[in-house]
Amino acid sequence: MICAGDISASIEHPLLERVTVLANDRVATGVGLIALHAPRVAARIEPGQFVHLRIARGSSFLLRRPFSVHLAGGERIEILYQVLGEGTRALAARAPGEEMDVIGPLGRGWTVPDGAAHALLVAGGLGAAPMGMLVARLADLGVAASVALGAPTKERLVALDVFEAHARRVVLATDDGSAGEHGFVTAPAGRLLAEDRPDVVYACGPEVMERAVARMAADAGVPCQVSLERLMACGIGACLSCVVATRSGQKRACCDGPVFDAKEVLWDASEVPPRH
Ligand SMILES: Cc1cc2nc3c(=O)[nH]c(=O)nc-3n(C[C@H](O)[C@H](O)[C@H](O)COP(=O)(O)OP(=O)(O)OC[C@H]3O[C@@H](n4cnc5c(N)ncnc54)[C@H](O)[C@@H]3O)c2cc1C
Ligand code: FES
Repeated sequence: MICAGDISASIEHPLLERVTVLANDRVATGVGLIALHAPRVAARIEPGQFVHLRIARGSSFLLRRPFSVHLAGGERIEILYQVLGEGTRALAARAPGEEMDVIGPLGRGWTVPDGAAHALLVAGGLGAAPMGMLVARLADLGVAASVALGAPTKERLVALDVFEAHARRVVLATDDGSAGEHGFVTAPAGRLLAEDRPDVVYACGPEVMERAVARMAADAGVPCQVSLERLMACGIGACLSCVVATRSGQKRACCDGPVFDAKEVLWDASEVPPRH
């Protein structure tokens, strides 16, 4: 993926592709799964990358909405989306056969360290969205995966089938105890970190969760990658609406991320050096 301002010819430019809706189903409370016929993006997308969707025509949709690609295969990509506002309500209403356009693949996704034999994935809520392709890729590479998957309630757990298909072990937690352990996903995540001794930890979910997982991984001396969500306008590194404070300065989540090395991220405002 190339950022505005990059000159490296070795980085691939994103594509603009006209895509067709293949299916669009509700899969959990307030969550849909849309499958798109997108042969060119599907051929290039890597785990943890995202696409920028022009959901519909009209002034409300001039700004594209960013979505991780949950799964990709053949000529198809799938996106798990939570219905929040006008854009995602319109997305939920798109029917098979309808067209829209996407820009992608965008961003830098997850990386699998050389020699990794065991990985821990920690997903909170829709944080599971960018981890579908990841868990499938890990299985292809012969990396054993443990997954800690959390949600507010049983009805809001997503992607369990994908994790169960590819991971060695899946542990659930819900805030209300309606499925799995009662409480936050960080509790089983900490236990799996101690028991399974992974070589790498991947986290995506609410930032408070990612930060807690990053701290646990750092304490255990295990490298950790986090996928950070920011409001995004351009998606290609030009508008600076998506900045992330890191130890190497301000980075753009859309093209330097959304996946970052957790130890690079300045999680506390107090850690960010003042700007002069
Ligand atoms: C790299 C990236 C990947 C993402 N992947 C997914 C995904 O796989 N599935 C998914 O459901 N969502 C994902 N999101 C969030 C998604 O882009 C927003 O939820 C969506 O744009 C909201 O559009 P809307 O018009 O429905 O909501 P709006 O009416 O624009 O906003 C409704 C609410 O959502 C919040 N919101 C809007 N945009 C974002 C954003 N970018 N991040 C966080 N909160 C936002 C607003 O602050 C507001 O509270 C991703 C965001 C990023 C940056
Ligand atoms: S969204 Fe414009 S720079 Fe990242």
